[in-house]
Amino acid sequence: MENNKTILITGGCGYIGSHTIIELVKAGYQPIIVDDFRNANRIVVDGLCTIIGFSPSIYEIDVCNEAQMDNLFQEYSFSGIIHFAAYKAVGESVQEPLKYYHNNIEGLSVICSLALKYKVSNFVFSSSCTVYGEPQGLKEVNEKTPKVQPSSPYGYTKLVGEQIIEDVQRVNPSFRAVNLRYFNPVGAHPSALIGEFPIGRPNNLFPFITQTAIGKQECLVINGNDYPTVDGTCVRDYIHVCDLAEAHVQAIAFLEAQNGVCMEAVNIGTGKGTSVLEVIQLFEKNTGEKLNWKFGPRREGDVIEIFANAAKSKDLLNWSPTFTVSDAILHAWKWEKNLQLHA
Ligand code: UFG
Repeated sequence: MENNKTILITGGCGYIGSHTIIELVKAGYQPIIVDDFRNANRIVVDGLCTIIGFSPSIYEIDVCNEAQMDNLFQEYSFSGIIHFAAYKAVGESVQEPLKYYHNNIEGLSVICSLALKYKVSNFVFSSSCTVYGEPQGLKEVNEKTPKVQPSSPYGYTKLVGEQIIEDVQRVNPSFRAVNLRYFNPVGAHPSALIGEFPIGRPNNLFPFITQTAIGKQECLVINGNDYPTVDGTCVRDYIHVCDLAEAHVQAIAFLEAQNGVCMEAVNIGTGKGTSVLEVIQLFEKNTGEKLNWKFGPRREGDVIEIFANAAKSKDLLNWSPTFTVSDAILHAWKWEKNLQLHA
């Protein structure tokens, strides 16, 4: 439908979803959010409303509830869908695989069936660089780098998720999709009104660093310092969450501009690797805070080194990151300090 700019965002109150809403609104889209708040926090909704200047429509629905989701598709004529809603803790997925297979795979199937039923063409899926596993040889991966057997059920849900979308697309040519393969999303909105809200003890590096600096965690343990990398610690491609959010808007705009068949996978990273130790040093230098950290043993299943070849995102989506790792550190720290005021 021409000029229809109504986008369904599942998991829209989560970390990446909430930042994406801001970019969508800036670009003139009307976001309709579905989130059942099992992994989102209402502080983020308050911050989001302040930033965008209005209260967006939020439906508290489990995406696996097909009947309720169907009602929503009847109510709105969506021009596109960004599907974030999914569990994302690698370690937890090993302990509770069925929780992950049920929610992540079933949720995606429901959304895809409804997209077909209601003829919503433009579909953006949250995938992950986890589909590349540990890169053999070159540490910079492009979209043609072979996908491998993931090291966790979470990873399988992303690999299978991409496969589901490709299979659906193959027999439904008018269904157009982009699988965005995120590298490591970090940071927070520069206003510090929204950011990452880990439930319980954080697994990821950035929230662990900021929580240690603020005193919520006692000590940051670096998981291994004997890897064959620049300084022995693991290397990742850290992408600022606001840049990542912007990539979703570009993906939707790209899909809208297509007439023919379209099925793409696109890396969303900076193209630059940073080691864990380098992140810590940058944190201390940029914030002036002294971080309590120590070296510990390797974490099972950790990828040693990976970073994106970011050429396709630039060529296809006309997207490039604007923030640096240092920006992300400062914004994450500002957000942590802001959260303390709510505690
Ligand atoms: N790290 C530490 N100490 C910590 C936390 C993390 O040393 O307390 C290290 C990790 O061992 C790793 C690096 O910091 O070397 C980054 O770890 P994260 O947990 O922040 O990120 P991962 O790269 O392990 O995982 C991320 C996403 C996953 C995704 C994966 C794909 O969280 O969703 O990238 O590689 F599947």
